[in-house]
Amino acid sequence: MEALENLMSRRSPAKLSEPAPSPEALARAMAAAVRAPDHGKLKPWRFLVIEGEARTAFGEVMARCLRRQQPDCNDEMLTREREKALRAPMIVVAVAKVHPRHPKIPEIEQVLAAAAATQNMWLAFHAQGYGAMWKTGAPAYDGEVRRELGLAATDQIVGFLYVGSIAAPALDAKRPEPDGFIERWTGSAP
Ligand SMILES: Cc1cc2nc3c(=O)[nH]c(=O)nc-3n(C[C@H](O)[C@H](O)[C@H](O)COP(=O)(O)O)c2cc1C
Repeated sequence: MEALENLMSRRSPAKLSEPAPSPEALARAMAAAVRAPDHGKLKPWRFLVIEGEARTAFGEVMARCLRRQQPDCNDEMLTREREKALRAPMIVVAVAKVHPRHPKIPEIEQVLAAAAATQNMWLAFHAQGYGAMWKTGAPAYDGEVRRELGLAATDQIVGFLYVGSIAAPALDAKRPEPDGFIERWTGSAP
């Protein structure tokens, strides 16, 4: 697909299904991810790929997170949380491996690099015909979730990229127009 067309047509599909990206498609998406801009060449990213039965275990991690954060949640809420892990055949946990007191590169730039890598990956999946959804929510910011995923306390989860084949396209066809987001600065504050 032509590069600009790939950018302009990326969406979050309403529904994903099997099959997951092939090993070759995943490898290409990862190769695209690690070509993201990266101040200081820190490569401050890691990607945990969760597939098959491991998704059930990940659903339990999310359910435990919900119980910690909302102790009065009911069984229906817990079931819904567990099922989130099954909404795609593959989940890529995109992690910023932050060097907390780096002498030159601020933490935010390391997180931004990991986010840029995640977007590269998403676009590469899209270019290969796969759909993805970028989700965060409470589990992305929960220390116990990080621990259960084997991450360090200083790591930051920038997103859970749910990836699969497109079973239903995005519902809303409307796309933002750039007008209204662009201003010109001409030398002094208005
Ligand atoms: C850092 C980040 C976190 C996000 N977290 C969520 C989320 O938890 N739930 C959600 O529905 N959308 C989330 N989104 C937005 C969707 O991934 C999606 O991009 C958005 O709904 C726009 O739809 P589109 O991808 O079709 O353009 C997140 C986006 C970013 C960049």
